[in-house]
Amino acid sequence: MKKYIAITFIALSSAMVLLQCTRRNEEDLKAICFEASILPVIQANCGTAGCHDATTAADGYDLTNYIGIMRAVKPGNGTGSKLVKVMLETRPDKRMPPPPAAPMSQDFIDLVIKWIDKGEGNVVGCASNAACDTSSVSFARDVQPILNDFCVSCHTAGAPSGGVVLNTYNGVKTVADNGKLIGSISHTPGFSAMPPSGIKLDECKLNTIKAWVNSGAPNN
Ligand code: HEC
Repeated sequence: MKKYIAITFIALSSAMVLLQCTRRNEEDLKAICFEASILPVIQANCGTAGCHDATTAADGYDLTNYIGIMRAVKPGNGTGSKLVKVMLETRPDKRMPPPPAAPMSQDFIDLVIKWIDKGEGNVVGCASNAACDTSSVSFARDVQPILNDFCVSCHTAGAPSGGVVLNTYNGVKTVADNGKLIGSISHTPGFSAMPPSGIKLDECKLNTIKAWVNSGAPNN
């Protein structure tokens, strides 16, 4: 009898530990939010025409959706995943995105590693515009991080696409003042739609950049 009680106890506590782990991972995953923080950045930088969009799918990788991205993911193993390895690659001919594009930011790579280590879930419905506060937008705190994730790989001083530099304040200020920044991200006719994947930045990011430009694009 005692033995059964002991077994039941062990079984129950293991189940509780398991349940807790699962729940903790789900919360961590929700905090990362695949839909808002990972998918759109990969779409913008990798899922472009001629690269990893659905049509070209270079090397067999369509990186415009969760299932396609998962082909480059080793479940639970961020640093062991091809998706991460190619971003961290130091040999330029092997790195993604390939030169002349600049490497992805370390912050984004770290986020992807965390997302995979926590269970690489397809978490959707977590993007909230309710918390979008554009009342006092700062270049350094709000605008540059968006550009770093979505634009800088192709717009770095040295080899800037279209001559547009987006990794320095002066570069961003130029296109803020001449209207090309807002024109391109709003997909206004007459401007090249950016990012070139054709998928717009979400409302909150658009409104953040617009609010900053409309306040005179200060170096704040
Ligand atoms: C995958 C590479 C890539 C990414 C990512 C990218 N761009 Fe571009 N961008 C280009 C290329 C190539 C051009 C030049 C050819 C053209 O105008 O289409 C360009 C041109 C531009 C122009 C000039 C547009 C015009 O009409 O003269 C602006 C402004 C711009 N990009 C802003 C951005 C912003 C802002 C982002 C991020 C939200 C971004 N780009 C993301 C490749 C990229």
